[in-house]
Parts: sequence; structure tokens; C-alpha cells
Amino acid sequence: MEAVKSKQVEILELLRNPDTGNALVPENRALVDREVGECFSIRQGIPVILRKDDVFGWNRKSQRGYDLGSSLYDLLYRFNLMNLNKWLAEIAEIMEAKSGDYILETSVGTGQQLLNLKNHGVEGHFFGNDISFGMLKKCLKNLETWDVDAGLVQGNAEALPFGSELFDVVFHVGGFNFFNDKEKAILEMIRVGKPGAKIYLVDESIEFAKPPRWLAWLLPKPNPEVYAPPLIHIPGEMLDIAEYELLERKFWMVAFQKPLA
Ligand SMILES: C[S@@+](CC[C@H](N)C(=O)[O-])C[C@H]1O[C@@H](n2cnc3c(N)ncnc32)[C@H](O)[C@@H]1O
Repeated sequence: MEAVKSKQVEILELLRNPDTGNALVPENRALVDREVGECFSIRQGIPVILRKDDVFGWNRKSQRGYDLGSSLYDLLYRFNLMNLNKWLAEIAEIMEAKSGDYILETSVGTGQQLLNLKNHGVEGHFFGNDISFGMLKKCLKNLETWDVDAGLVQGNAEALPFGSELFDVVFHVGGFNFFNDKEKAILEMIRVGKPGAKIYLVDESIEFAKPPRWLAWLLPKPNPEVYAPPLIHIPGEMLDIAEYELLERKFWMVAFQKPLA
């Protein structure tokens, strides 16, 4: 009988060089694109399929911010700030993910959404990427504590380090509004989805971003374009495009399906 591989081992077979699309071969604790001779490191068990020069603009700011805040991030969930437990239940209820599905979360953070799916009975084959190594390190620890098996990689959601047509469900929660290139991130989610894949995006709405009235005179007005659900970026051939309001309109969710052919 074949031994069951942990997801951190299985992920090595799914990874690709995001520039060339070539498979990566493990060699001396690194991953090598043999066709072009490019080498990617594996740091503390996590493949780093990200070049420093490719992280700039808002993505660089996010990376720095989340690296710094990674040890505090889970407090949001621990203390159920803003009633996040209700929000988690809303997300899991809408998502059509089932046990046995290959599920990718782009921008997995500390893994809270994977735990949420598990808590809602989904025993998926979980994978996640994030631009922040600090968040991924915390995620790896959390997954061990929670007994959730998932494969993690440091990589940009706008140039996913995965081969094409691998996942039944591809989802993203919480980083989208400040991506450098939102359209590219959506096209990447579609590329890595199998034909028929379900795709979900969640982020804060303008309601969330607005300062309370007593502070509004002091702070700059948030730009509604930044917080708008990204319907304009979804290609016309996608199916069942739907928009949801979550947690009393503080978050939006956009869902759609990749066509079968
Ligand atoms: C608010 S956290 C959400 C984490 C997790 N999805 C959750 O719901 O708890 C946003 C995450 O997006 C990641 N992120 C931001 N820009 C990214 C990018 N271009 N590619 C991949 N991850 C990114 C951040 O590092 C951070 O972990």
C-alpha cells in the first residue's frame, strides 16, 4: 500500500516556476527549474517561489506589514473581534467545498480559513500560498496545533507558483483590495482551477473602511474604487457570477464557476 504523503511533500509535485511554467525538481534542499537553471530555496520547510525583485508597490507594503504583525494576527480571531465568528460561518455556508476536494487558498495568512473549513466538516486536500513568510511560519505552527494537513508555499497571488487546472476550489479572503494587479490575481485563480472549479473572493467593503463619524473630519475619505467587489475583472465566459454581502455589508464575497470546457 502506498504511504499517504503529507501535503507539504505533495505540494512539491504541484509547484511550477511562475515565469516559465516549468516543473521544479528537488535538489540539495532547493527546487530547480532545470530548463532555465533557476533555483528556488526551501526555508524552514516552506518553498520560496518568489524573487525579491518581483515584490514591489502595495504587495511589498503588505509583505512588510504582515511580516511584522504575524504574531498578533490571530488575536482578531481569538477575541472574535467585529464578530468574525459569524463572518466565518457565512463564508463556509456559501462556499461549495466538500471533503476530498483539492482546495487552494491564495493568501492563506495564518491558516484561519482552512481551520474554518475543517470546523465546518470539509476534510479537503488543502494548499495555500502567501507573500509574507512571517504569516506562513505562524500558519505552519497553527496547522500542527489544529491537526490540519496543508501544503504551504511563499508566492505571489498575482503569479501563482502552481501548475494549471489542479484545484476544485480556489478561494481568497482578505488581501485582495490592495493587490497591485487585481485582474491578474483573478486570472491566476482561474488558471489553477480545474474545469468546473468554484472560485470565491472575499474582502472588506467601503462600509468597513469608513471611519466612525466622530473621526471622519480628521481622516482622509477611503477610495470606494479600492473597496469595490471586482465584478469588472471577471471574464465574461465565467458561469454563475454572484455577489454576496457578509457581516452586515462590512465584507463582500464574489463567487463564480470556471466553465467545464
Ligand atoms: C487579512 S490577511 C488574510 C489572511 C487569511 N486569508 C485570513 O482570512 O485570515 C491578508 C493576507 O494577504 C497576504 N497578501 C497580501 N498581498 C499578497 C499577494 N500579492 N500575494 C499573496 N499574498 C498576499 C498577506 O501577507 C496576508 O497574509
